[in-house]
Amino acid sequence: MILLFICITFNSILVSGSSLSEQVYQTPADMYNTPGGKAEINCSHSIQSYDRILWYKQTERQLQFLGYMLANIRNPENGVNVKMEGSANKGQTCTLIIEELQLNSSAVYFCAADRERPYNEPAYFGQGTKLTVLEKDKEITGPSVKVLQPSPKECKNEKDKQRKKTLVCVAKDFYPDHVSVSWEINGQNVTNGVATDEAAQLMPEKKFYQITSRLRVPAKDWENSDNEFKCIVNFFNKTHTVPYTDSIYGEAVTTTNVMTREKYVKITQAAKLTYSVFIAKSCIYGAFVVFLVWKLQGSKGKQNY
Ligand SMILES: *[C@@H]1O[C@H](CO)[C@@H](O)[C@H](O)[C@H]1NC(C)=O
Repeated sequence: MILLFICITFNSILVSGSSLSEQVYQTPADMYNTPGGKAEINCSHSIQSYDRILWYKQTERQLQFLGYMLANIRNPENGVNVKMEGSANKGQTCTLIIEELQLNSSAVYFCAADRERPYNEPAYFGQGTKLTVLEKDKEITGPSVKVLQPSPKECKNEKDKQRKKTLVCVAKDFYPDHVSVSWEINGQNVTNGVATDEAAQLMPEKKFYQITSRLRVPAKDWENSDNEFKCIVNFFNKTHTVPYTDSIYGEAVTTTNVMTREKYVKITQAAKLTYSVFIAKSCIYGAFVVFLVWKLQGSKGKQNY
């Protein structure tokens, strides 16, 4: 049974990038509820001759098979406390019902559509439903978002044409962790050079979450004060997905030029000083030698008499 499940899963994951997966519709994408409540997740598909819908629960640690619906026949796994309703046929809706929600019901639930054996056709996944069962002492709280400018120490060599600058977006103090992060430059969505944490992390005091995202851009883009860099953190607040944003503008290269010039002056002054000391020392040494020679010659002269 477990082997079969692994086979199905593996098969499905391999083909989930295909366009047929767009024919599996799963709603809602996000859901909050309180302990003891009930969650309902809907799944439908429009794939000809497919007649089965499988359900999975994915947590950080594992992917659990919950059972399936074959046409109108429900088939939940033993010991899994879920119900299924509706139909798995094309154009119909199959509903997964989880009652008596507990904190450990929090997970991402997936449906997948396939065709009953022996056809051995691939399964296609829905987009997933992220369910959070809210902890009693925590309130739904949107993130505070801040974009940090690149470190001036990053790639200082101005001759390097390839040099890049990294902006960091920090979203913190939110609960629960239903967020997605994106970047815009001058209002245009960018994905190139973006790296976002795999998942939001619970902050040390365990109450709120934090997530960071990095945007790497060519230094010349950063050194243009007309460019606006915006970080958008979409947060699901139980009914709506609300954008929280922060943005900063690039810093013109002239400021760094001034700094460089100042530095140049400083360096040359230091060099001049070192050189002067060196010359002074040489002069003193030279004078000393002249004095010695004169003294020696003087004593020699005296001895000759
Ligand atoms: C969620 O966001 C919407 C739209 O901004 C707002 O009307 C609603 O009051 C918010 N709900 C909660 C629970 O904060």
